[in-house]
Amino acid sequence: MRETARATDLLDWYDRHARDLPWRVGPRARAAGMRPDPYRVWLSEIMLQQTTVPAVKPYFEAFTARWPTVSDLAAAADADVMAAWAGLGYYARARNLLKCARAVAEEHGGVFPDSYEGLLGLPGIGPYTAGAIAAIAFDLPATVVDGNVERVMARLHDEHTPLPQAKPVLTDMAAALTPQQRPGDYAQAVMDLGATICSPRNPACGLCPWRPSCAAWEAGTAAELPKKAPK
Ligand code: ADE
Repeated sequence: MRETARATDLLDWYDRHARDLPWRVGPRARAAGMRPDPYRVWLSEIMLQQTTVPAVKPYFEAFTARWPTVSDLAAAADADVMAAWAGLGYYARARNLLKCARAVAEEHGGVFPDSYEGLLGLPGIGPYTAGAIAAIAFDLPATVVDGNVERVMARLHDEHTPLPQAKPVLTDMAAALTPQQRPGDYAQAVMDLGATICSPRNPACGLCPWRPSCAAWEAGTAAELPKKAPK
């Protein structure tokens, strides 16, 4: 079926072109079926919520060097964590970070819940973050939809309905594509595709593993999608 072939094409591309990011495991570990530490996935997702990958990297390295486990972070003084967060902005994230670390340490024995619903019950974890952690850390078939994924779906299906009205239909498209095999790698592959190839301006369609089945490529509309409703 077409969606399965698409997922396989993207996973093959990811195996060759995945970005080397400090919260991921390397290609050999991945091929051996290893998953990244849920603590590191959670920390990276919170940091990435309103901040770019290059800006997050040094903060992620500093946090994980100083607080290697969620229990270490839970035991940190508030002022130390706020000081280490300085420069990342959106300080409510840092306060929620500590609340969540303490909930995991005190209520879950220092182990992150391994289900979407369990993750959603933690402070500061909404549907997007719960889905991202479920997929990336636990390889559960959660659908992860951020702005990158919306753009990729709008182009793949040549969907001209403007955002935000298009959100539900783009989410359904993303869900239909999410494979049962390797859903965690798939989620990260769509993120990488959106960040490196299917970029907002000047998409690099010549390098895209989905070009052969991309409706916007066919129509010549990739660079104008997604449409946005006037404010
Ligand atoms: N943006 C949000 N989550 C991400 C991840 N896990 N990798 C790269 N970019 C991201």
